[in-house]
Amino acid sequence: MNLITSPHNPHLKELRRLARKRDRERGGRFVAEGEDLIAAAARARRPALEGYRLAGSGLGGEDFHDVAADALAAVSTLGSGTRVIGVYEQRWEPAVGPLCVYLHGVGDPGNVGTILRSAQAFGASCVAFGPGCADPYSPKAVRASMGAIFAMPVAHAEAVTDLPGERVALLAGAGEPLRGIALQAPMTLLVGAEREGLPDELVDVCERVAHIPIASESLNAAMAATVALYEVTREASDAPASSRVRAS
Ligand SMILES: C[S@@+](CC[C@H](N)C(=O)[O-])C[C@H]1O[C@@H](n2cnc3c(N)ncnc32)[C@H](O)[C@@H]1O
Repeated sequence: MNLITSPHNPHLKELRRLARKRDRERGGRFVAEGEDLIAAAARARRPALEGYRLAGSGLGGEDFHDVAADALAAVSTLGSGTRVIGVYEQRWEPAVGPLCVYLHGVGDPGNVGTILRSAQAFGASCVAFGPGCADPYSPKAVRASMGAIFAMPVAHAEAVTDLPGERVALLAGAGEPLRGIALQAPMTLLVGAEREGLPDELVDVCERVAHIPIASESLNAAMAATVALYEVTREASDAPASSRVRAS
């Protein structure tokens, strides 16, 4: 394939557009930058729809375009530039158990990506997105997920009734302590917005309300999701196999 030398190349222009949510949504595509993310996509058997690499690097697939350093730096969203960029298909699936994490108004893409990473680490079955959340396919969320975006099923949840199993609203300082409560799969852990938390009307329709006992007012949303995932999967690993929360 011909070497791309100009940042005004039509392919690169199209690539730059994918930094905008509406353009990502229109084409159902997103961008992943850097060797680690490209490798995570390959492990998850997610083929790149197209790819761009630093000329001469040999990175990515055989069909990746070779791009001159300046032109590649011009389309990178990383301050430090990148050596390889892939474009991938967005996948949205229904929210499923046994262990779903639902986010409501979690607007920081770094938090969204971190939650995806934790969900993968603790064997959750999906991350569902309610209103007001950052796009999990935005460049910052993709980066913070450290590749979990390719492995974790993601879902839109229009209504709480879309969420599988027992719904556990995580609230700072309210409800039962999460540690030690008997939880059974399937279940959904609900995490609220960075500032407002979960709205009352959502909490009211949850089967349970739980808090992580802490000495301060609240945890960051991603921290709370991570600790809660640790707690519920730790509990499950002591339970009989038939009642484990974690997918086997
Ligand atoms: C930064 S907190 C929101 C704080 C908000 N001012 C409130 O009072 O809900 C973001 C989300 O993290 C979760 N969270 C934070 N600390 C928690 C804790 N100690 N126990 C359970 N969930 C917690 C909740 O779901 C919360 O909605």
